[in-house]
Amino acid sequence: MEAIKAPRGTRDVLGDESWKWAHVLDVCRDVARDFGYSEVLLPIFEHTELFSRGIGDTTDIVEKEMYTFIDRGGRSITLRPELTASMVRSYLEHGMAHQPQPVKLWGHGPMFRYERPQKGRYRQFQQVDFETLGAANPLADVETIDTSIELYRRLGISNLQVLINSVGCPKCRPVYRSALQNFLGDRLRDFCETCQDRFERNPLRVLDCKKPGCRELTESAPLVLDSLCDDCRVHFDTVVTGLSRIGANFRTDNRLVRGLDYYTKTAYEILAGELGAQNAVCGGGRYDNLAEAIGGPNVPGVGFASGIERIVLTMEGQGAYPGERPATDVYVIAVSSDASLEAVSLVHEIRSVGISADMDYMNRALKAQMKQASSVGAKFACIIGSDEMKSGMVGFKNMASGDQELIPRDEVLVRLTA
Ligand code: HAM
Repeated sequence: MEAIKAPRGTRDVLGDESWKWAHVLDVCRDVARDFGYSEVLLPIFEHTELFSRGIGDTTDIVEKEMYTFIDRGGRSITLRPELTASMVRSYLEHGMAHQPQPVKLWGHGPMFRYERPQKGRYRQFQQVDFETLGAANPLADVETIDTSIELYRRLGISNLQVLINSVGCPKCRPVYRSALQNFLGDRLRDFCETCQDRFERNPLRVLDCKKPGCRELTESAPLVLDSLCDDCRVHFDTVVTGLSRIGANFRTDNRLVRGLDYYTKTAYEILAGELGAQNAVCGGGRYDNLAEAIGGPNVPGVGFASGIERIVLTMEGQGAYPGERPATDVYVIAVSSDASLEAVSLVHEIRSVGISADMDYMNRALKAQMKQASSVGAKFACIIGSDEMKSGMVGFKNMASGDQELIPRDEVLVRLTA
């Protein structure tokens, strides 16, 4: 029988990598605290309608990428492809509108999209997500972008490109949409099939096509910034001014349109050169009509999400290592079989004071145990043989210097905690 492998587009994050993920989440937690976001833990599956109404029926995510199934109760359920719609649902469901506004939430966990897997693109991937709900103020957009920039700064990531744009609002976007359609209509036959397909249903996404031919054709397309209504224009200008005021390194990108339909006004992405084709480490923006789209009152919101796989890839690409992989501090070596129980007891005592310790369970010889002590990165080895058992002593070896001395068994913890 052939051995079963993990499904395509998923990956096992093993011990040599998972400690980096833990570090990323620790830094997210610190940033969240300093910027005033509280953590929420939301379900991994939701009613399909939340995403079809929230993200938009004509988006790739809803049309082609969702993991949707009918559960045993006959409900249509979807594994979440992103967290924003769930965040807004939770805000509405728990009456957070009655708390002092804005409400700032963050969360993390696996997301699911049936995409074509490649470097940095998976079918199950992990996002950290930060949302600010209840504030229409453009300075909340500035804070959101600042939160993401600060997160990467604390992770030691540099050389990122922060791109911002405005995608307008329901008042001015139709104006832009028809200006763009007028422009595209004359040249439609020259575009790729996907763009032709998007022409009617989601023409702004044509600007996002990565094919060089299509990009060239849209070079002189009308700019969304030229069609903004006064409200969107002032909003965008304030975001730009605010970002400049905090010294953010960013640029405006007129082509930036996001793959989710809920965005209004600000849209932004952060790109990292180390990622190759899937170069967005972060995506976000404002979504003032999402709450209404999922059946709630009007609640403005702004936020971003970042993929942990892409964060770790970028850190690895830039050599931005978060210190060393955690190692075992002490390795206890039993040289004779009667010393094994003493070793068990010493390991237990060392661990109980919060120092990491380990021992051999494979009946290895002294030399092999010493080798094991080095390979787990132990700073000290405690060696117990028959003689030590009789005399109540322990061989105490500093692994870095190689110095070894005989100390009373009772002194081991004192030495380790000194
Ligand atoms: P998104 O651009 O679809 O936006 O995803 C945000 C980030 O998640 C991307 O920049 C990327 O780092 C990561 N990501 C997305 N898809 C994959 C994938 N298949 N494999 C690996 N990483 C991936 C959103 O999800 C919005 N909810 C962001 C947001 C929050 N907007 C407002 N608030």
